Amino acid sequence: MLQLVEKPSQEALEKGAILQFLRCPVELPSAEDQEFLREGLGPFLRRKNVSWYPRAGKLTGLQAPASVAARAGRVLREHSLRVRQFLVSAMPEFTRGWEPGTCSFRPLEEKRRGLSSHASNELVHVDAGAYGATHGDRILRFFVNLNPSSERVWISKGTFADLLGRHGAEAGIASGDLQASLPERAYRGLLRAAGRAFPMLRVIESSPYDRRMRRFHNWMKDTPAFQEGPSERLSFPPFSAWMVLTDGVSHACIAGQHALVDTFLVPLRNCKLPAPFHLLSGARA
Ligand SMILES: [Fe+2]
Repeated sequence: MLQLVEKPSQEALEKGAILQFLRCPVELPSAEDQEFLREGLGPFLRRKNVSWYPRAGKLTGLQAPASVAARAGRVLREHSLRVRQFLVSAMPEFTRGWEPGTCSFRPLEEKRRGLSSHASNELVHVDAGAYGATHGDRILRFFVNLNPSSERVWISKGTFADLLGRHGAEAGIASGDLQASLPERAYRGLLRAAGRAFPMLRVIESSPYDRRMRRFHNWMKDTPAFQEGPSERLSFPPFSAWMVLTDGVSHACIAGQHALVDTFLVPLRNCKLPAPFHLLSGARA
């Protein structure tokens, strides 16, 4: 599951590997800017994450004086650009036509944050949806542990394919036709058009695929017997980086503070191996 690598590999990602770089392959923010993220944002946090939206050019999660917000925005924007350039040059085919999502800084200690179970990072899940429905597009995430002294710790219970085989029936996840109905497609078109002007509108969009993924995600978090079952522990040392298709590999973050997370939506058509969409539709299972 965890593979130590020096460069990204589409094939390994699609097979469900978590690719770990012992040293982050992307230049990190300067020492002063890292210190600013770790120590300077605390009094101004309004959400659990501080996020930069590259398309909208917008920062969320802070209520801060203009100088603080501008600096946080600059640091995240620059990091986002470096991560994008690195991944595009390392995986030109896989990233073709992708949608760069947020670059987030996660400032809070993950251990026992006391969030509601559906929002909790401490419970093992596969990601369902990112900025609304994905319609089968893949969720790629690139993480950096910016904590200079503590590891970040994940647990995993295996790939989506394994878990669907083992728990799909119990979770009530049927495979079969994932085509949206005609009225649903018309509604989705309207939402997409409106979403260009108001990005948050896309969040309410849905599809048969996204509903099944959401159901599986919720079943995992709501089923104590599943959470208590065996899992693999993964440790990410200070300043290491890792990347994974988070809709295809189960994960939970059980400890750690101060991480950078970049999210991308990779078109389903770029996949060469069966993706959750194919496994759920049964077409290429
Ligand atoms: Fe997740």
